[in-house]
Amino acid sequence: MSDQFLWMLAALAALAAGLWAWRHWHHRSFWLAVGYPITAISVWASWRKVALGCGLTKKRHRLWFTTVPGLVASTGVVRVRRKWQRIAVDTKPFMWLPLPTRYGWRVTLHTLEGQIPTDYAEVAERLAHSWGVHAVRVSSDKPGRVRIAVTLRDPLVKVHELPPSTELLKVTVGRLETGKPWDIDFKTVPHWINAGATQSGKSNLANALIVGLAPQPVALVGFDLKGGVEFTPYAPRLSALATTRAECGGLLDDLVALMTDRMGVCRMAGARNIWQLPPTLRPVPVVVLVDELAELYLMADKSEKEEVASTSTALLRVAQLGRAFGIYLFCCGQRIGSDLGPGVTALRSQCSGRICHRVNDPETATMTLGDLDPAALDSARAIAAETPGVAIVAGQDGQWYRARSFYVSEQTAEHAAKTYADLAPSWDEVMAEQPQQAPDSQTA
Ligand SMILES: Nc1ncnc2c1ncn2[C@@H]1O[C@H](COP(=O)(O)OP(=O)(O)OP(=O)(O)O)[C@@H](O)[C@H]1O
Ligand SMILES: [Mg+2]
Repeated sequence: MSDQFLWMLAALAALAAGLWAWRHWHHRSFWLAVGYPITAISVWASWRKVALGCGLTKKRHRLWFTTVPGLVASTGVVRVRRKWQRIAVDTKPFMWLPLPTRYGWRVTLHTLEGQIPTDYAEVAERLAHSWGVHAVRVSSDKPGRVRIAVTLRDPLVKVHELPPSTELLKVTVGRLETGKPWDIDFKTVPHWINAGATQSGKSNLANALIVGLAPQPVALVGFDLKGGVEFTPYAPRLSALATTRAECGGLLDDLVALMTDRMGVCRMAGARNIWQLPPTLRPVPVVVLVDELAELYLMADKSEKEEVASTSTALLRVAQLGRAFGIYLFCCGQRIGSDLGPGVTALRSQCSGRICHRVNDPETATMTLGDLDPAALDSARAIAAETPGVAIVAGQDGQWYRARSFYVSEQTAEHAAKTYADLAPSWDEVMAEQPQQAPDSQTA
């Protein structure tokens, strides 16, 4: 081998190692400078083939310069000639230039006649395989346009913590697939359902909420129907804790009474909700965390029917009227099926915040995310057991997202509960309507 060849090999190896190191240590700049331009060109160049393969093309008549059989020569050979002809060709949807995003790229397409965004959503998986990417999400913000967002790799395999939110009743609990923070904001979405199979990450999310809400001037109430094993360690920061259905019933009666009192205060002050009250009159917001919602509805025998009915009615009333009067619900459960009774279905319709972790039965996914895009259900069913904390989230803006909560251990939540124990108003103080110390002036 000549020296020149060896030098070339060495230079290529050095270049490959340099690129690898760049990609490894600073993936973002590598993606923008190298990965994205190559991807954009290849996506653009192959779009006709991909659209054809995914069934997104339409036949249109076009003037095409093509070969046609001509005369048969005396030798018997058919001579061909080229001429312009109107023939049916496959036309692809017009594609704008793909633009880079944090975890991949996005592009706008013009739909062809007769196409709707659902046609694109239905072939999202085919597109993902054709482009060799982790996921393709389809949305449409304008008639005739479809937005395709591509994520190259699953950004939720490892999520780095974000700074905590400083707004009242808003907690940054994780990260969305788009890279944006996953916020649970009770003032925007007052009631939440948090569903998922065992070990899917429900309690981790409740821990994240406790850590986020503990330093805020809010009263926390725990309904722990797992006999108290989940929330008892956080008791120092809780204003009330119920561990049986009977205790929950008692607390719910208190909450309904509290709501009625607050209604009176608002009515007298001419306010529609507690946020319109002057700060000196404004009562403390109450966040109710429920773990194992199904236990509130299950009946071993007929004798429990009345208890279940009254608990279910009180919870529903809190859900219906709580928003205006500063009472918010966060209900966790493994199964939230309609077989638990009409109370659950009615409660579900009041909870506009939906979180669906990995589920075992499709019915829970359907109950949790039911009225969303069917792709959200497929996505929920595809959550792997190896990634606890990953969930499909719907709420704030009517869209659904894949997201993952930050890991918050029981020890961290317990530590936060102890650190901010002095911020917990006693239940008697809450019931006596002590206005909060540092009220927020924003409207709910
Ligand atoms: N976001 C996350 N990141 C990393 N690990 C997580 C995350 N969420 C949960 N886990 C892990 O998964 C395990 C199960 O989580 P968690 O206890 O929250 O599940 P669960 O849904 O409440 O289960 P169960 O129904 O049995 O109470 C936890 O021990 C934790 O180690
Ligand atoms: Mg749990």
